[in-house]
Amino acid sequence: MKIKNPKLWHKMPGGIIEGENVLYSRKYLKDVENLYKSKEISNEGKNTLMYEVYSYSEGDETQYGNLFWGLTILHPVYIEKECNMTKGHFHENRNCVEYYFGLEGEGLLLLMDEMGQMSAEKVLPGSLHYIAGNFAHRLVNIGEIPLKIGACWPTTAGHDYRAVEEMPFPYRIYKNNGKIELVER
Ligand code: PA5
Ligand code: NI
Repeated sequence: MKIKNPKLWHKMPGGIIEGENVLYSRKYLKDVENLYKSKEISNEGKNTLMYEVYSYSEGDETQYGNLFWGLTILHPVYIEKECNMTKGHFHENRNCVEYYFGLEGEGLLLLMDEMGQMSAEKVLPGSLHYIAGNFAHRLVNIGEIPLKIGACWPTTAGHDYRAVEEMPFPYRIYKNNGKIELVER
C-alpha cells in the first residue's frame, strides 16, 4: 500500500486552503455597505476587498453528518473607524453548531441569541470558539493585519442572513485611537 500525500493544505501561517474543489468567494464593500453606519462611501471605496471565504466538503452536502471546513480572511479595513465585519448569520437549521478557530490576527466573535442579546469573545491565534446552534455569529477584525479563522460546520446547516437583517446585532464595533468601542445602535 502506498502512503498518499495530503490532498488538502490549510497553509500555515499564511492561511489559505489549497486543493481540488476548494470553493472560494469574496465580498467587496459594495456587497456589504449596508452593514456600516457611514453613508459616505465613495465609488472607489466600494471596490475595497473586505473578506474572503474558502470552503471545502466531500460527498453529498445534503447528507446529515457531513461537514464543511472553511477559512475566512477579514482584511484590516475601517469605514470611518467602524471595524470590518462579516454579514453574520444564524444557521437555517438551528440545531447545527459550529467551531471557529483563530489562526492569525486579532478579532471579535459576536454572538447573538434569538432574543437579540449579544456577547463578544476575543479571537486570537489559537483561540477556539464553540458556536451553539441558535446563536447568530459575526466576525470583526479589530487589528492591523488580516484576521484569519478556520471553521467547521455541518453541510446541512444553511445560512439564514434574513433573521440578522431583521434583527441586527445591537452593537457597532469601532476602533478609535487604538481603543475598541462597542456602541449601541
Ligand atoms: O460558516 C460560517 O459561519 C463562516 O464560514 C462564514 O460563512 C464566513 O465567516 C462568512 O460570514 P458570513 O457568511 O456571515 O458572511
Ligand atoms: Ni455559520
